Amino acid sequence: MKPGKLTLTDLAAMKERGDKIVMVTAYDAPGARLAEEAGIDVLLVGDTAAMVVLGHDSTVPVTMDEMLFLTRTVARTVERPLVVGDMPFGSYNVSDDEAVRNAVRFVKEGGADVVKLEGAGPSLSRAAAIVAAGIPVMGHVGLTPQTETMLGGFKTQGRTAARARRLLSDALALEAAGCFSVVLEAVPTVVAARITEALTVPTIGIGAGGECDGQVLVYHDLLGLTEGRAPRFVKRYAQLAESIRGALETYAEEVRNGSYPAPEHTYAMPEEELELFSSAAERVEHAHGDG
Ligand code: KIV
Repeated sequence: MKPGKLTLTDLAAMKERGDKIVMVTAYDAPGARLAEEAGIDVLLVGDTAAMVVLGHDSTVPVTMDEMLFLTRTVARTVERPLVVGDMPFGSYNVSDDEAVRNAVRFVKEGGADVVKLEGAGPSLSRAAAIVAAGIPVMGHVGLTPQTETMLGGFKTQGRTAARARRLLSDALALEAAGCFSVVLEAVPTVVAARITEALTVPTIGIGAGGECDGQVLVYHDLLGLTEGRAPRFVKRYAQLAESIRGALETYAEEVRNGSYPAPEHTYAMPEEELELFSSAAERVEHAHGDG
């Protein structure tokens, strides 16, 4: 582990003290570096990379190799934030053995500190097996995008008493399976608050209200790199898509009208070298012409 790295004990102590845990997704070196400089505690190399980086329309297609590539990039960039490798769909769904093998790849090849997987049910034994292999696991319940078809789409979860009770028991079961933290996505604030109180491990909310022990947002959403309709819980702290598009338009215009590059963006040559080069160039061109 890198010196100064935030530990699981630190996260548990933050819950104990009531200090909020700040988590954001990261997929590349510049984003990871800025997040660390901003004092973010946990970086999730999320499978949302499929959508915000790789151009897919869901998280399902992203592969282990793609996730490992991104995780490696983030892990080598930062010192303090805990790096969470998000296990992609299919990498833990078949068996405990395969889940452990892929979690090991996240740590050995990706440099992740811990892994995250979605759901309860079969994910409980997967989580327990990975923890038994020595790799800490973050759970994720509520809206679990990898299986959104089974949930009837991207909808708030746990809005009936029966479903809320189910969420609470799933979260408790993930804690019992050894998870060091549980993400709660798109669940009513009151349900997330009750789960947060019931669990001894920290909860990280996304669309789960302010009572969770921490919050996570997707980097591209919070910076306004994604545009158009977003889920209710997304707060855009900047409008980077607008700034980037504006900068690219200005660049294109300046290249086309010749105002870029200006003299200050170019390199000069000493006068005497230029004279020597001019005569040499004449000889080279002449020789080529003769040939
Ligand atoms: O992949 C991801 O970005 C996530 C967060 C939305 C929690 O799982």
